[in-house]
Amino acid sequence: MSKVALVTGGTRGIGEAISRGLKDAGYTVAATYAGNTEKAEAFKAETGIHVYKWDVCDPEACAAGVARVEEELGPVEVLVNNAGITRDGMFHKMDFDQWRAVLSTNLDSMFTMTHPVINGMRGRSAGRIINISSINGQKGQMGQTNYSAAKAGVIGFTKALAQENAFKGITVNCICPGYINTEMVAAMPEKVLESIVANIPVGRLGHPEEIAQTVVYLASDSAAFMTGSVLTINGGQYIANG
Ligand SMILES: NC(=O)c1ccc[n+]([C@@H]2O[C@H](COP(=O)([O-])OP(=O)(O)OC[C@H]3O[C@@H](n4cnc5c(N)ncnc54)[C@H](OP(=O)(O)O)[C@@H]3O)[C@@H](O)[C@H]2O)c1
Repeated sequence: MSKVALVTGGTRGIGEAISRGLKDAGYTVAATYAGNTEKAEAFKAETGIHVYKWDVCDPEACAAGVARVEEELGPVEVLVNNAGITRDGMFHKMDFDQWRAVLSTNLDSMFTMTHPVINGMRGRSAGRIINISSINGQKGQMGQTNYSAAKAGVIGFTKALAQENAFKGITVNCICPGYINTEMVAAMPEKVLESIVANIPVGRLGHPEEIAQTVVYLASDSAAFMTGSVLTINGGQYIANG
């Protein structure tokens, strides 16, 4: 029986590449999404990957969703907390809805999605949790106080949860992508994007597959001694200590 991997926001962008990468590596993948059913169904038809719709901000929907995945596919052995959004704006002009939406989707989701799987993993003495943070959680970014705060929170969550669960055979790691060529980045004004690429030493945006292959490694048995890590994948744009 292949292991079950659950990828939040796994039907588009970086999450889509992660879902495909894990499937190619032999996992049974459950990919979740929020509302873009057309894209999710096309992805399912093309890949055969199971898709599930629920909101990662809703704790009850997450608990029910995980229960359904486990009933249909088996225990979740790999959780990839990937779903995320941006609602950019300078802080002095930001309203509380912009703040709340970003904190809820990017940070509350660490609780709502990890809580329903953690006891199962602890009971089996095995598990992999891989959280997607961001370069902007490491360095901060003008216009993204909400996003930078949430993604920095993901790093702290990762380090603390790793310590709590290391002796149970569960690893918890975090990836901080730089600017990756997805719809999230394509939505940025062209001039802003040009100035960003000019500051990436590798000279281009990252590919979603470059994040996906790191997830596949972290999920593997080979990565058993790696926990609490913060992996920077950003083309050299920001070289962080962790
Ligand atoms: N792209 C980058 O350059 C970059 C850089 C650093 C970090 N990241 C992080 O990488 C992750 C993926 O980013 P991306 O660029 O691939 O994003 P994306 O292309 O916009 O895709 C986001 C995915 O998350 C899902 N999602 C959003 N809100 C959700 C919610 N409330 N409940 C459930 N699912 C939800 C979306 O579902 P629908 O399809 O239904 O909308 C979609 O599948 C995010 O955490 C992001 O912050 C991205």
